[in-house]
Amino acid sequence: MTHSQPNLMNKPRHISLFSGCGGLDLGFEQAGFKRVWANDFDSDAQAVYSLNLGEIDKRDIVTIIEDEIPDGDILTAGFPCQPFSNAGNRKGIMDPRGMLYKECLRIIKKKMPKAILFENVKGLLSTHHSDGRNIVDVIKDDLSKINSLGYNVTHELVNASDYEVPQNRERVLFVGIRKDLNLSFEFPFKLRKDQLTLRHVLSVTKDIPDQIDWPLSPQASQMVNYIPEGGSWKDVPYEFLAPRFRKIRDNMKKYHSPNFYRRFSRNEICGTITASAQPENCGIIHPTKNRRFTIREIARIQTFPDDFKFITKTNRDIVAMYKLIGNAVPVTLAYHIALSIMKQVFKNPKQKLKRELF
Ligand SMILES: C[S@@+](CC[C@H](N)C(=O)[O-])C[C@H]1O[C@@H](n2cnc3c(N)ncnc32)[C@H](O)[C@@H]1O
Repeated sequence: MTHSQPNLMNKPRHISLFSGCGGLDLGFEQAGFKRVWANDFDSDAQAVYSLNLGEIDKRDIVTIIEDEIPDGDILTAGFPCQPFSNAGNRKGIMDPRGMLYKECLRIIKKKMPKAILFENVKGLLSTHHSDGRNIVDVIKDDLSKINSLGYNVTHELVNASDYEVPQNRERVLFVGIRKDLNLSFEFPFKLRKDQLTLRHVLSVTKDIPDQIDWPLSPQASQMVNYIPEGGSWKDVPYEFLAPRFRKIRDNMKKYHSPNFYRRFSRNEICGTITASAQPENCGIIHPTKNRRFTIREIARIQTFPDDFKFITKTNRDIVAMYKLIGNAVPVTLAYHIALSIMKQVFKNPKQKLKRELF
């Protein structure tokens, strides 16, 4: 898919924290933002980012002084989600990784960009701070008071498939707009789900790079043999299940009937591509071939364009690539949200600043 960029003389400047391999940043670029700074301390993320998008600061964010970051008009941060994820132990903001949220606040406080975007997992909605408050309220409260000027913050649980992404992937987005702009953000309308099923994603011609897959474990290979297109582990005969799965099959009610090893059909929209890329908890098995999706196939499900490269001569860690792609914000979701921010915040003729801060 190609997206035309708005013709802006002065593109709004984008500060990107926790940039990963650049899914979110590419979407913002396509919507007309100009990146002035990106950061990630993971060497695989840095390699893919610089190959496709350009410069990236490689330091740990906690070591970076605010003055070393250029000023910007928008700051985005998909701070690490494990502390909030449903799979994790939900320590939330008290977990050291949750404290990275505080790093975002530190930088926002100094830069006070016109707009902010935070992205996180759905589990955030049901996570509580140690003082009992819901994390969503903590984030909104912190941003609303920051520097006694603050931000009007809107949040929403979005499904990427509502924004032209061939994947049911739910994420919480927060958009904050500096209060002196007198605006409040409205999330874009949901779009039609045309051509989002796997059938539309999986036809990859040989000349396209990164068509390499992470081989399944012997146990997974065995399971997959018994799962038809559109099926799951429920189709695997009892005698071929590993003891761990037999225990669950014996008492499905107790384990809330988990749907492991989901193998989506060509007529379905794919489930969430996760960083772990395990067939057990992520529909990562090809509908008709007994293998994982290739790197290119999951990149497509995450709406990376085919000329976005992952594996190079010096960068051949396949498992790391699955993780990077699974961690990314789908490019086209980022594009639609960025375009909406562009229209509402940066091209609004009624926009009058009470006071210009920087
Ligand atoms: C969820 S991923 C971000 C994905 C990105 N938004 C995208 O669309 O591709 C979070 C990233 O935060 C990075 N990260 C975690 N802790 C960090 C730290 N202390 N300093 C810098 N980067 C960090 C991780 O390496 C990871 O790539």
